[in-house]
Amino acid sequence: MTGHYFGFLIYLVMGPLFLIGLLLLIGGTLFCGKKEDIGRLTIEYIEEELSRPGRFTRIRRLLSLTSVLTFVTLFIVGVVTYTSFHYTESVSFCGQFCHTVMEPEYVTFQNSPHSQVSCVQCHIGAGAEWMTRSKFTGVRQLFAVAMDTYPRPIPTPLEALRPERATCEGCHRPEVFHGDKLYVKDRFLPDEANTHVQTVMVMRIGSGGYSGREAHGIHWHVSEEHRVSYVGSRDRNTIRQVVLREADRDPVVYGRAGGVFPSGGTEERLMDCIDCHNRPTHVFLTAGEALDQKLITGVIPREIPFIKRQGLAALQRKYPSQEVATRAIANELMEWYRREYPEIVEGRNDLLKKAVMGIQQAYIENVFPEMNIDWGTYMSFTGHREDDSGCFRCHNNEFRTETGRTITQDCDACHIILVEDQPARDIREILKGL
Ligand code: HEC
Ligand code: HEC
Ligand code: HEC
Ligand code: HEC
Ligand code: HEC
Repeated sequence: MTGHYFGFLIYLVMGPLFLIGLLLLIGGTLFCGKKEDIGRLTIEYIEEELSRPGRFTRIRRLLSLTSVLTFVTLFIVGVVTYTSFHYTESVSFCGQFCHTVMEPEYVTFQNSPHSQVSCVQCHIGAGAEWMTRSKFTGVRQLFAVAMDTYPRPIPTPLEALRPERATCEGCHRPEVFHGDKLYVKDRFLPDEANTHVQTVMVMRIGSGGYSGREAHGIHWHVSEEHRVSYVGSRDRNTIRQVVLREADRDPVVYGRAGGVFPSGGTEERLMDCIDCHNRPTHVFLTAGEALDQKLITGVIPREIPFIKRQGLAALQRKYPSQEVATRAIANELMEWYRREYPEIVEGRNDLLKKAVMGIQQAYIENVFPEMNIDWGTYMSFTGHREDDSGCFRCHNNEFRTETGRTITQDCDACHIILVEDQPARDIREILKGL
């Protein structure tokens, strides 16, 4: 039996059964107290026994036995309550118990920088109010899973389990970040040599401003002095109106010029970490990113010609399940290499097998057909993959104030691109050559 079902059995089945048994026992003792042999320790019995001088020691022994047993019982009850409560807060319960439902979030979580942070640290955080809310929605969700009525994929945001600014700020404090940071992005071209190219950029991380320091750069949005809020669609992919409020100034309202807007919008929402970092831990990559990551870490050997191009083609087909996908990906690739590069299938079969496994892994870690999660189902808001995504949901030409002011689209406000998709070199050479 795997760990999480064992935990479920102990904490949520055996524990409560023990408690029910105990209640039945107490009930039985009270209601059947008049009958002999069962009602041993009723008040009447004790009074009667006490009035008989010779029985006194027996009574005392019985009483101490009772107190010891009571303590033992209370201890077990305490431990069961405590551990059951903690079990429902564990990563194993949240991530693995309803296996299919939570698998995508659990798998991506495990491959992320937050794999050592527990689900509840982000989804519930401190405070009794959130905890109570989460337990109520939790019960509803258990029913949805039991009745098979849950949505696939699970829509975000999760209203009652919403990570909010305070939960992130328990560990990160963007108001004390400062300055810029060098980002190197590795990529591989879909050519025969799988050419390794790099984009090198200075990311203007900036700061939320703190004890006299000015807010600047990307984390300018989290400062108290400049409050950005917006009205948008429920999934936050489309934004209708942006409002900037600053001390001692009238609010600046940016409206979308003539934009068509889907119905079912939200109330005005103050922007926080999640409006950019919506994927801090459930990081679903695109097929290209997933392959680049496997190639740069050597999980997929770069020596196999056209492995990026062929891998991408195999990954992007539709499959009904991960099992079918892994088989089909292996078949397709082996067939192609047998036809086009028989010398590799003969001479370097180990390397090719390794590459195939890496490509299968890229699929399994990001696509979950059982939950209708394909490449790009959950998009990150931290960059801009398409014209109107991520930062460009607001930083685009369409938003204007009455006086015609737009939200900045200056590339250098966010990052300075030093080289873009250039053949990889030693970073010192790139920096010296500028
Ligand atoms: C570092 C913080 C963090 C941790 C740890 C974390 N999550 Fe999340 N989770 C988020 C954020 C942020 C979202 C997206 C919220 C939004 O967009 O409103 C999210 C969304 C989700 C969703 C909705 C579907 C989706 O992908 O958007 C599910 C389900 C979920 N998390 C389950 C889990 C489970 C299970 C665990 C533990 C295995 C976990 N989370 C751990 C931050 C976290
Ligand atoms: C319990 C502590 C904790 C909480 C809560 C937490 N984080 Fe983190 N975060 C970490 C740790 C630890 C790292 C990893 C640092 C590293 O690997 O360098 C990290 C890394 C990050 C990174 C850098 C990721 C990268 O690719 O290098 C971002 C961005 C981030 N967290 C955002 C968030 C956001 C947004 C939230 C709230 C939803 C959050 N974190 C909640 C501890 C936490
Ligand atoms: C306007 C969008 C935006 C908001 C709001 C925002 N961030 Fe960021 N943050 C970014 C971007 C963009 C980066 C750099 C690129 C990346 O890490 O993907 C970044 C980087 C980070 C990092 C990594 C810093 C480093 O030095 O590597 C952490 C940690 C982080 N943010 C935490 C937070 C927390 C916590 C909040 C909320 C209080 C927050 N951010 C609000 C956009 C934002
Ligand atoms: C909800 C709308 C919204 C989103 C989403 C958004 N911004 Fe902004 N951002 C604004 C507004 C409004 C301003 C202030 C107007 C201006 O100066 O253009 C601003 C200003 C900035 C500035 C200039 C700060 C300064 O020092 O004046 C930077 C840098 C920036 N944003 C980066 C980003 C990045 C990076 C992202 C995506 C990760 C992002 N923004 C996403 C609304 C948004
Ligand atoms: C509002 C802020 C903002 C503006 C304006 C902006 N970008 Fe970006 N851009 C980002 C962020 C944030 C990332 C990094 C996301 C990440 O960490 O992957 C990025 C990433 C990139 C990348 C690297 C993509 C990759 O993964 O290789 C390129 C290239 C790029 N931007 C080009 C541009 C150009 C050209 C412009 C001007 C027309 C521009 N950007 C304007 C915020 C911005």
